[in-house]
Amino acid sequence: MLLQIPGVLTTEQVAHARRLLDSAEWVDGRVTAGHQSARAKDNRQVPEGHPVARELGDLILTALQRNSLFISAALPLRVFPPLFNSYEGGQSFDNHVDNAIRQLPGAALRIRTDLSATLLLANPDEYDGGELVVEDTYGVHAVRLPAGHMVLYPSTSLHHVRPVTRGARIASFFWLQSMVRDDGKRTLLFDLDTAIQRLSADAPEHPAAVQLTGVYHNLLRRWADL
Ligand code: NI
Repeated sequence: MLLQIPGVLTTEQVAHARRLLDSAEWVDGRVTAGHQSARAKDNRQVPEGHPVARELGDLILTALQRNSLFISAALPLRVFPPLFNSYEGGQSFDNHVDNAIRQLPGAALRIRTDLSATLLLANPDEYDGGELVVEDTYGVHAVRLPAGHMVLYPSTSLHHVRPVTRGARIASFFWLQSMVRDDGKRTLLFDLDTAIQRLSADAPEHPAAVQLTGVYHNLLRRWADL
């Protein structure tokens, strides 16, 4: 499932992020690319562990912890510290699949990348091109979002970023391991949770709400790996 999550960051938070990113040193984005994707990738990044990346990464993770749509859709177990990239002057990232396993920096812990996330920090009127194009079982989706919005998609998907022909496309990107590895199962749980929330809002006294909540938790108990 590909999901757009609006308003992860406020306009003020995006402006703060842009000011800090302007002051950071940027390096060739191939530093975090795997063998195949290093040939496909042409952009710049703030180095992993840079103080600006840490501060803004914490800001994003704090915002996500309070975002019920993100929690319901991702069922996150471990989240990789957010990274920051920029595409300009024709830069792009050709078709690739993200690495399956990533070492968490500074910890003896690896994560399996179940979901990939891109949080835009530039508005669409600041640049041309730069669509994130994701191929999944339902077809090809080209995504271009306002600053502060995020797209979440299965890390199993082939995807690319089209060349940025004007301005700069600045974004944060990261991966996460979900408690529910399988995208189909995770999507079913998300649909069920969404329906339960709707039912609970429209008919709070209806006994089916309790029964369905039980079904949700019992499916999660069957399918979750911790
Ligand atoms: Ni990728």
